[in-house]
Amino acid sequence: ALSAADRALVRALWKKLGGNVGIYTTEALERTFLAFPSTKTYFPHLDLSPGSAQVKALGQKVAEALTLAVDHLDDLPGALSALSDLHARKLRVDPASFKLLGHCLLVTLARHYPGDFSPALQASLDKFLSHVISALASKYR
Ligand code: HEM
Repeated sequence: ALSAADRALVRALWKKLGGNVGIYTTEALERTFLAFPSTKTYFPHLDLSPGSAQVKALGQKVAEALTLAVDHLDDLPGALSALSDLHARKLRVDPASFKLLGHCLLVTLARHYPGDFSPALQASLDKFLSHVISALASKYR
């Protein structure tokens, strides 16, 4: 589980990101599509070119889901239950790909917040993302 220290670091970073979470999730999506092109196969209906307004809109939705997760660190499976259902049953996304987006989000945040990105923050964020990912994967069972 996330320790009190993990929670405090994640909450403090989220506060710092403020209204910009969507900018970083959008960059993370763009990085995911470039670094791991197989992930693009789930989005044949979207324009995935750099700067795409559709990717930006998806990035904003992902950002809102992550912010909801930060606000519900005590019950991530509950908070993300509907989203897990959507990805498992309707979108049929390979849950292994969640890790790729998580990785790209870490890289993105490290790039934009180099001064904040201590090893401790990296470890706490990585733990947070792992919990989010296992909550998203829960409806696959
Ligand atoms: C849609 C969250 C990872 C594929 C969405 C939506 C959210 C979301 C909030 C919008 C749902 C709605 O409109 O009601 C997340 C989170 C992720 C994640 C929090 C991981 C941290 C992924 C990954 C893939 C993926 C890795 C595939 C490689 C999709 C697809 C849609 C979608 C295909 C529908 C897009 C559309 O038609 O507009 N996701 N997602 N998701 N997600 Fe995810």
